[in-house]
Order: sequence, then structure tokens, then C-alpha cells
Amino acid sequence: MSDHLAALYDRIATIYDPWSVSVVEDVEFYVEEALASGGPVVELAVGTGRIAVPVARAGIRVIGVDESPEMLAGARGYAEREGVADLVDLRLGDLREPPVRERVPLVTVPFRSLLHLPDEEEKLRALSAAASLLEPGGRLVFDVFAPSPEDIEETDGLWLEREPGIFERADWDVRARTLVLSVRGADQGATFELHWLSAAEWNALVEDAGLVAEELYGWFDRRPYEGGEDQIWVCRRPR
Ligand SMILES: C[S@@+](CC[C@H](N)C(=O)[O-])C[C@H]1O[C@@H](n2cnc3c(N)ncnc32)[C@H](O)[C@@H]1O
Repeated sequence: MSDHLAALYDRIATIYDPWSVSVVEDVEFYVEEALASGGPVVELAVGTGRIAVPVARAGIRVIGVDESPEMLAGARGYAEREGVADLVDLRLGDLREPPVRERVPLVTVPFRSLLHLPDEEEKLRALSAAASLLEPGGRLVFDVFAPSPEDIEETDGLWLEREPGIFERADWDVRARTLVLSVRGADQGATFELHWLSAAEWNALVEDAGLVAEELYGWFDRRPYEGGEDQIWVCRRPR
């Protein structure tokens, strides 16, 4: 397990929800995917349950894996408040070696979590681990991004108040394809790295993991990917 990242998300667990409060566009998409699969769903890097709890509210059982105990505590509280704790099974662990013996029709990795992995080798480990949890014919759905020059230009090196009292700073290293992202609230803060790839590179990793890319969307309304910042991958394990 990566103690390094666990410690980082532990450090922002109480500001994570207010920080990401405006990120809502993906929730319905993942709920639709969960309903179409029939469940159960494994969500890798489940965080505070931002997606997992709405999936459970739709009646689908979720196994959520995360390496941050504090983020999982947030997810537990959210599931309890929403009355779906019996449908949300939270497990502490690394998404590259998920503590999951079950085989499921859908594995998800929402909100760019795979970008925390530093290189292609580690990303392939994660995709292969996700693939191994799938029933034959099951799907892996994940989203990632690669920044546009405009986004880099607008945000590089600036502290921006993303939500009231919560500040974010992006330092982009285009050559290394690494975003160093800092977030600060009143009592909590952390800095972590995100490492992006091109769509062609993701496709190669998906194939190396034994999966077939069925769809690549450019947004959560399922419009086709046309080279924008967001990539939403729907991959199938062959029967
Ligand atoms: C951006 S948050 C996403 C949380 C949630 N899926 C969502 O959509 O709001 C990233 C999460 O990935 C977790 N994480 C990062 N690296 C991990 C790893 N190697 N194994 C398990 N969890 C990891 C962090 O602890 C954090 O909760």
C-alpha cells in the first residue's frame, strides 16, 4: 500500500467534499452504468463515497476500496446518513492489489484516480487488477484527463479560490506530463501529483490489461471523444 498517498488524502479528508462539491456531472453517468450492470459494483479509490453512495441509493451493492482510512470514514458516514450502509462495503487497500475476492459485472475508477499512479507500469498494474475482478463480459469504466494548453495557461502557478475558503494551485510540468496539485482549507491541506497520458497510450494499456475499449467518450453525456481534456473509457473483458 502507498502510505505516501494514504497520508495525503487523510490530510484533506474533511475538506474533500466541500472542495469537490461542484463536481456533479459524473454521478448520474456512473449510476446509469451501475444500473445497467445490475451490480454489484467494485469502485476502486472510492474516497468519501461521492459516487458510491448515489449508486447504493439506486439499489446497487457497492464494494469500495481506498487506501485512506479517513476518506473511508467519510464514506461510511455518508452511507449511514443516506440509509444505505448495508449496501456499501468499504475496504482499506491499494487499488493495484484490491482486497476483493468477488467477481463482478462492473468495476469503476471515477474522478481521475488512476492519474495518481506515477507511470505506465503502475497504471497497467491497476488496470490488470481491475480486469481480474471482472466476470467474463464485464466492464471497467474509468475517467481521466489530459490538460489543454489553455487550461495550463489559465491556471499555472496561481492560487485560485475554488470554493469559499478552499484554495487550489496547479503547477504543470508539460515535459514530465505531471500536475502538482495543492489544496488548502482552513485546517487541512495537501500537495499531490497527477500523471497524465494520451488517449492512444491509455488504449494500449487497456489492451495490455486484456480488455477491449468499447467506448471512449469526451464527456459524461456520452458525446464521442474528439481530442478534448476529458477521456471516459468503457472497456470490456472478453468472454
Ligand atoms: C480524487 S479522489 C476520488 C474519490 C472518489 N472516487 C470520487 O469520485 O470522489 C482519489 C482517491 O484515490 C485514493 N487513492 C489514491 N491512490 C490510491 C491507491 N493506490 N489505492 C487505493 N486508493 C487510492 C485516495 O485515497 C482518494 O480517496
